[in-house]
Amino acid sequence: MFGFTFYTPTKVVFGKDTEKEAGALVREYGGTRVLLHYGGASAVKSGLIDRVKASLDEAGIIHVELGGVVPNPHLGKVREGIALAKENGIDFILAVGGGSVIDSSKAIAYALADPDHDVWELFQGKRPACGCFPVGCILTIAAAGSEMSNSCVITNEETGEKRSYNDNIARPRFAVMNPDLTKTLPDYQTESGCTDIMMHTMERYFTQGGNMELTDEIAEALLRTVMKYAEILHRDPGNYEARAEIMWAGSLAHNDLTGCGNDGGDFATHMLEHEMGGMFDVTHGAGLAAIWPSWARYVYKDCLPRFVRYAEKVMGVRDEGQGDEAIALKGIEEMEAFYHRIGMPVNMRELGIVPTEEQIRAMAVSCNEACGGSQGSAKVLHLEDMANIYRMAL
Ligand code: NZQ
Ligand code: ZN
Repeated sequence: MFGFTFYTPTKVVFGKDTEKEAGALVREYGGTRVLLHYGGASAVKSGLIDRVKASLDEAGIIHVELGGVVPNPHLGKVREGIALAKENGIDFILAVGGGSVIDSSKAIAYALADPDHDVWELFQGKRPACGCFPVGCILTIAAAGSEMSNSCVITNEETGEKRSYNDNIARPRFAVMNPDLTKTLPDYQTESGCTDIMMHTMERYFTQGGNMELTDEIAEALLRTVMKYAEILHRDPGNYEARAEIMWAGSLAHNDLTGCGNDGGDFATHMLEHEMGGMFDVTHGAGLAAIWPSWARYVYKDCLPRFVRYAEKVMGVRDEGQGDEAIALKGIEEMEAFYHRIGMPVNMRELGIVPTEEQIRAMAVSCNEACGGSQGSAKVLHLEDMANIYRMAL
């Protein structure tokens, strides 16, 4: 195993009606003037925004609103938030939504701490952040794990580039998680979220070494749990216990718990998907489901022991003397069957996109550039590998 630093400073407040604590939590973390940041219509329609505003009022906290964050959040909205926050002397960003709203909030928070530089430079890898205003969140979808992660993913809608920037200083101060809030989600978003949650753990699982037994066991339990409750939610979306299991799994899948001791993880599937999100604006989790089977078939021989362990311990494949490669391939097939059972695609056509050869090249070039020339641990991928995986996923 490798040494590691496990840093998870986010206070989690989990359970029914916890959004009522928003005002007190902002105050606890020093906020006095809040930018209340949210997405399209869902949080307004459900009355959540009104409940959060009431909680802020009760705590005597001044607030300014900015809604309209779209999935695969735009740099333009980040810039709007920066300007509004500066005008109003904002000292705390409260995100009410999912990964897109939380990431938009993190980007605004980086910019407020460094007003003389363009925040997009962080995402271009030109410089590290020198600070970050405090962010808190009220989670409305279990998926991206941004509520406890150090990651922030923004799309530059003018260039079509979707880029991430990771820094521990952006981890939210608190995350309010009320599973009831996720009951209004469309099924497709719930299931895309489950796929993303699993992938955050799988990215850390398929590596060339350094994994600890304890980390592996936690990862496998998390994956089996998400699969079980994803199927329950597919049939019974109003099931609170199932929503709670999935919500907590989403945070643990991406707060680095399932990466302790490994080599930093693979993350090629994520990098490949980010290009699909940037070019075609697909839902992140569904995009992952569409590309993972092709990635897996492309790399499994280079990481065979992990694929065999995954097949046996997560997908329930039995060793009946068929040989390691057959076991690994069966595990991938079982994963595809699971995706289908919860209504997820297993290739780009099923996802609803059919990139041309020119678009595949453009995605591969951009992905390779975003990765700095190569990506992966299970198998190190270069430009041609990336293009090949996109072609396999057609
Ligand atoms: O805007 P509204 O109306 O709220 O609709 C949203 C949106 O259309 C809807 N939604 C959210 N909560 C709802 C709801 N609808 C009804 N009821 C609710 N309670 O769901 C849609 C998706 O929301 P979004 O925030 O985009 O979902 P998610 O949490 O999956 O975030 C995806 C973004 O996060 C990035 C992705 O790339 C993508 O841009 N990621 C961020 C990560 C991080 N920061 O650590 C890691 C991930 O790997 C991921 O890359
Ligand atoms: Zn993800």
